[in-house]
Amino acid sequence: MRELSLHILDIVQNSISADATLISIYINEDIEGDRLTIKIGDNGRGIPEDKLMHITDPFYTTRKTREVGLGLALFAQAARRCEGDLQVDSGVGEGTVVTAFFSYSHIDRPPMGDIKGTLISLIALNPGIDFMYKHIYGGKKFFLDTREIKRELQGIEINQNEVLGWLRGYISEALEDLYGGEG
Ligand SMILES: Nc1ncnc2c1ncn2[C@@H]1O[C@H](COP(=O)(O)OP(=O)(O)O)[C@@H](O)[C@H]1O
Ligand SMILES: [Mg+2]
Repeated sequence: MRELSLHILDIVQNSISADATLISIYINEDIEGDRLTIKIGDNGRGIPEDKLMHITDPFYTTRKTREVGLGLALFAQAARRCEGDLQVDSGVGEGTVVTAFFSYSHIDRPPMGDIKGTLISLIALNPGIDFMYKHIYGGKKFFLDTREIKRELQGIEINQNEVLGWLRGYISEALEDLYGGEG
């Protein structure tokens, strides 16, 4: 995968498959510390311990056919190529947190990609799931919580076209502010 936003979409898809009702996405672009951290947390069903041990190993299989996919392994590989790593913390019934970090300036570090499009698609396609989004860039912060937006909407569906249009503009502006016009 060429872009981090695609990895994020893929990892969030795991949370959705695990019946999460609240998913948090945290991105910290720490320029000074030369470190990029991406953390995705959910309140889904969690991962059993025996599976967790091998979850980022692309060669692990318990049978002839893989019973585990490659999403986490590929994301882990991308991080490890950039002096980083990926960690999965999970417990059955407790939810899951996936944390990846990268050396920010590493030549192999994939670009962020279309974060706004990723967020809008996730919200549009999963109106019953709540998303918390926190993005830090060089110390500046952008925070979004669909629970707050839904409260403001007073019963209007969050995935109505008008609402999504507004949300798209809102996120665009916030990200432009965050990147100070350079992103
Ligand atoms: N957030 C999560 N909650 C519960 N189970 C998860 C989560 N993320 C991953 N898993 C488990 O780990 C497996 C491997 O995930 P992944 O590497 O993305 O491959 P795939 O999704 O193709 O199976 C999933 O099939 C699922 O059983
Ligand atoms: Mg997956």
